[in-house]
This record gives sequence, structure tokens and C-alpha cells, in this order.
Amino acid sequence: KDFPFKPRSRLPFDAIPTGRADTITVPPGYKATPFIPWGTPITGRYPAFAEDASNSAQDQAEQIGMHHDGMHFFPIDARRGPGMRSDHGLLVLNHEYIDAPLLHPNGPTVVSGKRTIAEEVRKEINAHGVSVVEIRRNVNGEWEVVPSRRNRRITAATPMQITGPARGHKLLQTRYSPQGTATRGTQNNCSNGFTPWGTYLTCEENWAGYFATRDTGLPRELQRYGLRSSSRFGWETLPGDEFERFDATRKTADATGDYRNEPNHFGWIVEIDPFDPDSTPVKHTALGRFAHEGLIFAPVKPGRPVVCYSGDDSQNEYIYKYVSRHKYRPGQANGRLLDEGTLYVARFNADGSGDWLPLDINDRNFLKACLATGVTFADQGEVLINTRLAADAVGATRMDRPEWGAVNPDNGEVYFTLTNNTARTAADAANPRPANAYGHIIRWRENSRDHAGSRFDWNIFLLAGPESDSRGPDGKSLGAQNILASPDGLWFDDEGRLWIQTDMSGSQLSAGPFGNNQMLVADPRSGELKRFLVGPLGAEVTGISATPDFRTLFVNIQHPGEGSTATNLLSAWPDGPGKRPRSSTVVIQREDGRRLL
Ligand code: FEO
Ligand code: CA
Ligand code: CA
Ligand code: CA
Repeated sequence: KDFPFKPRSRLPFDAIPTGRADTITVPPGYKATPFIPWGTPITGRYPAFAEDASNSAQDQAEQIGMHHDGMHFFPIDARRGPGMRSDHGLLVLNHEYIDAPLLHPNGPTVVSGKRTIAEEVRKEINAHGVSVVEIRRNVNGEWEVVPSRRNRRITAATPMQITGPARGHKLLQTRYSPQGTATRGTQNNCSNGFTPWGTYLTCEENWAGYFATRDTGLPRELQRYGLRSSSRFGWETLPGDEFERFDATRKTADATGDYRNEPNHFGWIVEIDPFDPDSTPVKHTALGRFAHEGLIFAPVKPGRPVVCYSGDDSQNEYIYKYVSRHKYRPGQANGRLLDEGTLYVARFNADGSGDWLPLDINDRNFLKACLATGVTFADQGEVLINTRLAADAVGATRMDRPEWGAVNPDNGEVYFTLTNNTARTAADAANPRPANAYGHIIRWRENSRDHAGSRFDWNIFLLAGPESDSRGPDGKSLGAQNILASPDGLWFDDEGRLWIQTDMSGSQLSAGPFGNNQMLVADPRSGELKRFLVGPLGAEVTGISATPDFRTLFVNIQHPGEGSTATNLLSAWPDGPGKRPRSSTVVIQREDGRRLL
């Protein structure tokens, strides 16, 4: 009864092998071109990149930042509906963090554990955040930066508004904003999102590491998010409000007299209107406060609520869903949809069913769970500021580090990468391997057609790992063409193919069988999975977006030669030997200029 011939593969390219070359490798017939690396001038005086890293803090505020991560291409006419342009648009991308040893001519200056040069720290602050760049494809098919009023740098110091239920909350009142309604900057922006109304979403992941507190007995809104006695870059050790705000140590009786509440301004989803360079970015508190990896929308329908998903990327943290109270109306400014709604957290049951548990102070079951666990919240603002604690109280499922999500356009199934979790002691159905070093991809189907309901059914799409410890989408072990570990970036193209990017580090990268970080493509319809790209040495492959005609794919290469210093360069990508390695976008095209697949 079998059909006599196999249907044509939807992955018609030669899978490439794992590799350890210091370059980008793509299949025959494709090309990968570096584009807008760290330091590319995009605005202001358009200061040229100085190879010796001698650019000033102000130069850096007019150049592309470091550590490219989540990214989205907005066609220049994105707000005009179908038939959008594929040769002209705004590329918007995150700069997750920095390699201070490469950002300065001879690395950062630290004296007795303290930063001493304000200009250096200002440059670090300006190398974080988001870039908005207008770009155009020329007649030769090459992409170029357009000098444009829309080009913009948002940094870890850019003024922002706070909206949603926690706006004005006592725990958000600071010296900078005694009303608790405004803040400065966004940092550690990992993955991203974009709204159906054409705005960009940047997500605050490991923001806690930017703060220090010498206090003991921390309040729960600092304790549960892992604030420590020293910070990653030591910004708080310099005098002056612009730096001391990163020191959350108690100094006064009233928290508005010191910076105890400053960390409460981070861990949010930030909305940026890339088409209005004068717009103020908005932190939407209704979406919860945690180590937000990204935010993805379920397909929207006019007259229905918007639904989006976000993972908390830390060991044993949770996956969340948000359902707006108000309905989506095309053509309207819909930002308020992200200010009023219900935040849910996922429980994955052992029988393959799942429940979305509301974190809502007006919900009877939520209050019951709080009572049973002895957790109290004064108001919904406090619930959202303490999202992790609220999720603990309702008994959500602790996951193996939720990273990116993606929704299959074929059938609305939601896929999430769980990158790894070596701290897992006991396996459960949704996280089936203890000390999970390789990670997996989970997927679920909502029981409600509009994604807004509280029940779903889930299964595991892929167990990453070597041949001896893995399971591909076809139910078989992964092999030479498709082994991978630590899946992170995830994206569906318009035709329902799933693109998977990896973020292996340490011994997995150096001693594992997987080679450098990579990108693969899966076809959930057929179960096929093939490796499409291998990145340069020491780099993460992350960030992905395409033009509507699918003739250009943008991918980011983060921290090539990770661990390099000015005198010990561990990668020569992308500029060649003797040049500092630079995070960069990569433009992927077919050599014949046709659709990628
Ligand atoms: Fe910044 Fe979760 O990766
Ligand atoms: Ca990253
Ligand atoms: Ca990531
Ligand atoms: Ca990661």
C-alpha cells in the first residue's frame, strides 16, 4: 500500500559536516557575508571603527554594539500590510553583553577590584542595548547601511517608560523616578520578539549580574533573582549616580534615597518602535519579571486577544504565557494589549497534558496556592515583580533552561528549546534526563484554537546529543549529518521549516563531537533534520530573521574567539589574522540569488 516513491525533500541542500574551522561554512551553492560587525558607524557623526579599540564612549553610542543576539528585519513598508518590500528595511538587533578585554585598547582598567575610568565604563554601557539600522539591497544583491534619521542606538542608559500593573509601584520607586514610572536603559538583551503591529521587543535576561549588593537578608525581589555582592563588570564601583545606581546596597531608611529598587526596573520585556527614532522605549510589566529570553506571538486574529510565550532562562525555571484582556484590532496602536492581561505559567503533566496556571491575584486558585505555600502578595504589581515566586507557589514545572520559542505556521504548535541543565537531579516527563548536558526541544498544541485557553498537549520533538544519547524528529538517533547540543535559537520560516541554532560552551565546544556552534534545519512534516551552517571558533550562532521573499536570511555570530584579549586573539573572524574578532550579522544568500529553500 506504500506510495511507490518518496515525496521530494523540503531540505534540498547538502548537509554540511561538523567542523572546527575559523570561518562560516554553508552548503554548496550558498554564501555567507559578514555585515554590520561591532563598531560599524550607523548614526551621529558616523565615527569609523578603530581597529585598536580606541573609539570613545561617544563613538560607541554612534556605532553598532557588541555581542549581536536576537534580531528582526522589518520591511520598510511593514505597516502597509501584504506585499512588503524585501530590498529595504530596518534591521533591529540586540547586543547582549560585552567582552571588556576587546572593547578597550588593553582591556578594562581595574585597581584593587574597582573601576577607575568613567570613560571606559560609559563605553561599556553604550556597547549594550539595541541597534536600529536602515538597510538596502543594491543591484548586485549586496546589503548596505543607509544613512538615515531612523538609525538609532539604545543603550544601558537610554530613558524608558514603565507601564502595566507594576507602574508606580512602591517597589519601583527610585531616586531617578520617585513615582516609579520611568527608568534608564536595558541590558543583557538576549532573544527578542516582534509584535503584530510592527514594533520590536527586546528581552532582559541576565540583568541581575549587572548589580551588586553588600546587604544580607535580601528582600525576595532581589534574593530570588540571584543578586550578588559583586557585579559582572564592576560599574557600581565608580562614583556618581550613573554608576552607583548599579549598587543596590541599603544606605538610607527609605528606598528612594538609595538604589535598592533599581534592580526591580530590570527583567522585563521592552517594546521599541523602530520606525520612530524619537519614541521612548516601554517596559511592559504585565509580561512578568524574570530572565526573559525572548517573546513570541501566537498567530493573531482580529477581534481575538493576543497570546505570547516567554521562557525564563535559568536552571529549573519556567515557561510563561500571556493572554491580553483586550482584543487585537489591526491598524491600531496596540501597545496597550501588553499592559492588561493574564500571565500564566506552564505545568507539564506526566500524561502528556499540560495546564496554564494563572498568576493573578484575583484568581481563586492562585490565592489558594499562595495560602497553601505561605506566600503573600499585596497587589498584582507585587505578583509581577516577584513572578518567579508566584510561579513557585502554583507548582509550575521546573524546566531545563527555556530559551527561544517558535510557532509552526502549519498547525500552530509551539516549540521551545531547553538548552541544558546539568543541575537537574530528578528527571520528569518533560525534562527526561537528569544532569541534562545536551538539551532538548519540547512542543505543545493548545486545546483552544485561539491559543487563549488553559489546557494543552505536549511531547518532545528532539533530544539533542551524540549518536549514543539522542533522538531526532524521525524517532531515530541523531547521526553525523545532524548531531547537535545546547539548542538555543529557534525560528520557523513561512513554509513551516524549523531552524535550530546552538550555544554550546566550554568542554562541549572543545572536546565534544559537535564541533563549533551551528545551525540546522528540521522539517517537522517529514522528520528530516540537516546541518546548514557551522560558525567560526568560539562563537555562538544566534539571532535569525529573513526578508519576505526569503532570498536573504540574517543570522548573528556572537563572541567569535570568546576569551580573547588584545594580545591573545583566539579567532580571526571576520576581519582576518591579527584583527580583533568581532560579533557580526551574517547575510546568507544563494549564489544564484533565488529563494534560500
Ligand atoms: Fe542569553 Fe539564554 O541565552
Ligand atoms: Ca547569547
Ligand atoms: Ca540565547
Ligand atoms: Ca544560551
